[in-house]
Amino acid sequence: MTSQTIPVDPFDLIVFGATGDLCERKLLPALYQRQRAGQFSGPTRIIGSSRSELSDEQYRSFAKEAINAHVSRADIDERELERFLARLSYVSADATTGRGFEDLKAAVGDSTNIRAFYLAVAPSLFGVIVSQIDAHGIATPTSRVIVEKPIGRSLETAKEVNNAIGRVFDEARIFRIDHYLGKETVQNLMALRFANALYEPLWNSAHVDHVQITVAESVGLEGRADYYDKAGALRDMVQNHILQLLCLVAMEVPASLEADAVRDEKLKVLRALKPIDAFNAERVTVRGQYRAGASNGGAVKGYLEELSAGVSGTETFVAVKAEIGNWRWAGVPFYLRTGKRMATRVSEIVIEFKPIPHSIFGEAAGRIFANQLVIRLQPDEGVKQWIMIKDPGPGGMRLRQIPLDMSFAESFHERNPDAYERLIMDVIRGNQTLFMRRDEVEAAWRWIDPILAAWEERGQAVQAYTAGTWGPSASIALIERDGRTWHESF
Ligand code: BG6
Repeated sequence: MTSQTIPVDPFDLIVFGATGDLCERKLLPALYQRQRAGQFSGPTRIIGSSRSELSDEQYRSFAKEAINAHVSRADIDERELERFLARLSYVSADATTGRGFEDLKAAVGDSTNIRAFYLAVAPSLFGVIVSQIDAHGIATPTSRVIVEKPIGRSLETAKEVNNAIGRVFDEARIFRIDHYLGKETVQNLMALRFANALYEPLWNSAHVDHVQITVAESVGLEGRADYYDKAGALRDMVQNHILQLLCLVAMEVPASLEADAVRDEKLKVLRALKPIDAFNAERVTVRGQYRAGASNGGAVKGYLEELSAGVSGTETFVAVKAEIGNWRWAGVPFYLRTGKRMATRVSEIVIEFKPIPHSIFGEAAGRIFANQLVIRLQPDEGVKQWIMIKDPGPGGMRLRQIPLDMSFAESFHERNPDAYERLIMDVIRGNQTLFMRRDEVEAAWRWIDPILAAWEERGQAVQAYTAGTWGPSASIALIERDGRTWHESF
């Protein structure tokens, strides 16, 4: 199988926060990879901007270092790297005072390239930056703006952020990134569901027993204490990535892949989520916080020590039993869990089908496991359909569970592009299918806010778990109370 690279029209990408972490680790490497793939045409330019005073040459050195540090050796092609660096320039600007915005305007000039602004900065700056872009007349009627989570920390603050951006850019020109939607396997979930006749008839409460979504990380705070301690796992991972995955699993078949067709269906799922509030939060949610333990083969500190604060009630782990109140999913629990410093890094979605209604096999045949479809997002992407077969050979009818295994790394030998590569190119093409619409973000907060409020109101404390484990024992109890267990394929 060969991937296809379809060149995009020439564009000017203006990146605010050009010397920041996101730009260094993700955006510059992703853009370089697209250059190497031959996707850029003609006079495409990337204009970096931040408050630091840097010359174009200094910014190019910064970019070169970033690419060498974050792109694998085998993918560095010196000629393409030089061509890429030649597309870069830099303008120092400060949105809080407006300094440098005239220089930015001059740098963009009267180019007819597609224009996109990437706000790779703290969300508190989104509003001021778009106002300066507007005040200095840098946006054209077709310019796009790209923003990323966190979009607010509650429904109310999310609305403020959306209003601030919406004052300058129409919704059709706002690209809200959730990088999980750019992951290869997440898109494959749509292919699996809608390009196969096999699954869709079974994809409902008559045949599905429950769904599990796990996003486990082995890393800890990674120097993001300031942000993370104010956010916690529910805001950081569930409000966005995990709910987006849930939507893709649970949505109705959209009429097409057109952006609003898909986003309308996702929105209906978010709106159908049953409320979790002070009445049921203690029963259906678990909050955890890691203590010192072992991870990635070495001893690691606990959250509070990493934070160098004596106390914090922020959760680094959360498990939730969610339910969707509609005909398709009535009575099918969606068990969600995510955490830092867990036993390993794994993200997967498990669809567990109902057990067979009656067994014709005797006890000697062994246990008959329910069929499971396991969609693994990372680290080794792939899909496994677990089925029962007869153990081969003589010895009577003994049954065994085996996976029909489709590991993508084994089937396809190409590099798996990073989510940002696909998403930035989609912005240039003007395709919003993989981006969150305003009402989706707000609907997600509308479901999350009462959970946060319930935790506060009921004083639901974090439960300790040892770093390098699967979270607090209460998370195991959450699912085992229902006679089910967390999937283990790690
Ligand atoms: C980010 C969160 O959105 O996603 C981080 O803020 C988290 O806390 C990261 O580590 C996980 O992304 P990935 O792609 O490594 O699974």
